[in-house]
Amino acid sequence: MKAAQPIGVFDSGIGGMTVARAIQNMLPHEAMIYFGDTEHMPYGDRSADHIMGYSEKITEFLISRGAKIIVIACNSASAVACETLREKYRGQIDVIGVISPVVDYITSRPYKKVGIIGTKATIGSHIHERLIREQSPAMKVAALATPLLAPMIEEGFYNNSISQTIINSYLSNWRFKGVEAMVLACTHYPLIKKEILKYYQKHVDVVDTTEIVAEAVRKSLSEQKLLYTGKKKPDHFYVSEYTESFEKTTRIFFAKQVKIEEVEI
Ligand code: DGL
Repeated sequence: MKAAQPIGVFDSGIGGMTVARAIQNMLPHEAMIYFGDTEHMPYGDRSADHIMGYSEKITEFLISRGAKIIVIACNSASAVACETLREKYRGQIDVIGVISPVVDYITSRPYKKVGIIGTKATIGSHIHERLIREQSPAMKVAALATPLLAPMIEEGFYNNSISQTIINSYLSNWRFKGVEAMVLACTHYPLIKKEILKYYQKHVDVVDTTEIVAEAVRKSLSEQKLLYTGKKKPDHFYVSEYTESFEKTTRIFFAKQVKIEEVEI
């Protein structure tokens, strides 16, 4: 493994770009290979077996393209596949998910009650509750699946009155009464963070995973002596099915002309 190899990142669609961008901001020399599994989006509505299968194939693809580390920039895939993939590739390549780093962060704070929103796959796995209970048994967790949000965002539908109404309707759920922090347990949700902040009017901490995960990636690369500081090489973007909104978001996020290649996995 060489430091000059790229960082492999994947999600079901555009959500993982929120993580990829945070990694680029923190590690500007690193090149990225990004895979958006748009053909199978939304992962949140898929079975654990299907998500596991896609995650395995994408990981193989990213390794075949020279990735030096794999970032599962998707909570749904992290919830069902991260442990298995970490075991499978142990000693070969490090696999970082988005859930453990955020749980470490949350449990390091003095919160008494936290809310979690994510896809049906993520919330149905109960992984946040389980990990938080292990580390902070007294912390109360209120979790709610919010399945309309990721497809809405993937379609470029946010920052308008309809998206705000849907967000408000989910966040006003009775179970969130008294939460001190709301965890955005879907990598699409940083794109609606402004609207979530507007709902809470600064009364609740809104925690997104992007920088926390970027730091976990930096730490892993540094420990493996794989941090790259040479001249930046080009990023590569792949999708399983071309969509206009993926292309548009990639341009907005990476502020440059990007080439998106469609590949079958
Ligand atoms: N971005 C993905 C996540 O973090 C989910 C979106 C989807 O349902 O495909 O869970």
